[in-house]
Amino acid sequence: MKDTYILGIETSCDETAVAIVKNGREIISNVVASQIESHKRFGGVVPEIASRHHVEQITLVLEEAFQESGLSFNDIDAIAVTEGPGLVGALLIGVNAAKALAFANNKPLVGVHHIAGHIYANQLMEEFQFPLLALIVSGGHTELVLMKEHGSYEVIGETRDDAAGEAYDKVARMLNLPYPGGPHIDRLAREGEISIDFPRAWLEEDSYDFSFSGLKSAVINKIHNANQKGITLKPEDIAASFQASVIDVLVTKTVKAAKQYQVKQVIVAGGVAANRGLRAELEVRFSETGIPLLIPPLKLCTDNAAMIAAAGTIDFEKGNRAGLDLNANPSLLL
Ligand code: KG4
Ligand code: ZN
Repeated sequence: MKDTYILGIETSCDETAVAIVKNGREIISNVVASQIESHKRFGGVVPEIASRHHVEQITLVLEEAFQESGLSFNDIDAIAVTEGPGLVGALLIGVNAAKALAFANNKPLVGVHHIAGHIYANQLMEEFQFPLLALIVSGGHTELVLMKEHGSYEVIGETRDDAAGEAYDKVARMLNLPYPGGPHIDRLAREGEISIDFPRAWLEEDSYDFSFSGLKSAVINKIHNANQKGITLKPEDIAASFQASVIDVLVTKTVKAAKQYQVKQVIVAGGVAANRGLRAELEVRFSETGIPLLIPPLKLCTDNAAMIAAAGTIDFEKGNRAGLDLNANPSLLL
């Protein structure tokens, strides 16, 4: 069978990324230009700045991805691009670049959901086994998704307020840590003790939904009350205790859902999947259940275009095509 080469483009937030993936599984090139340094001083992603950076970077990143691959446009079977969700102005840069490339080179175009991309980052490591449960934990999403076959997604649980990564970033800000705060909390947590009993939002007995805003408020109140009493809490202990609460809820619900749906594989995706505490706890708890667990390497956990090309390959093979009227959809559903 002929090999399939998909060009992936991702610009939904603050990374301009282009990649080429062979047969949906093999990374030929994977280039990511991060804008984190430009957003740091604002303590978060500034949409207008993100769009401007994408405009500046997209052609350079595209060129580098081709250079790294040794391929030319003739070798490409289709172009896959993140159409949503994300920042509309940022998404539009990628979508328009993809449309221009598809038109100029007469190649098919495929629109990809950003979360499907995060899920398919795992296929770059190992073949999926269905039914499969995906835990997606990123800056914008916290979801448990059941997949019975390629390209089919059933959301069985989601956050009712803040996403896990958002909670990490907000707590990091309270501790005066730079943006994005997740990796800093991760580092501090390893040095601290779980000495503060922060709440865990289990919600209803049978619910796989999540909620992290109560935990975030509990951390604010704890710091505020301590300050008023002149007590100094160790940031390491706050980080360790906060992280313990997040991990406990994420892992317990994932294990419960994996057992209930009798899945053959559990995969983890999104930026927070880079968290060392979460990875370690998932590994311990899933080794007890005997259900195979797959977590991508750090580079594939955060936003990249290889994951978009991998997910796009499934759509391409299914015959899904986008027209040149493809639009960015900031609130696209999975
Ligand atoms: O998937 P991602 O790169 O972008 C989105 O689609 O949101 O995720 C970014 C999020 C940020 O909130 C960041 O703080 C968090 O992932 N993150 C982490 C770690 N590395 C990144 N959170 C906890 N521990 C980490 N090691
Ligand atoms: Zn993401």
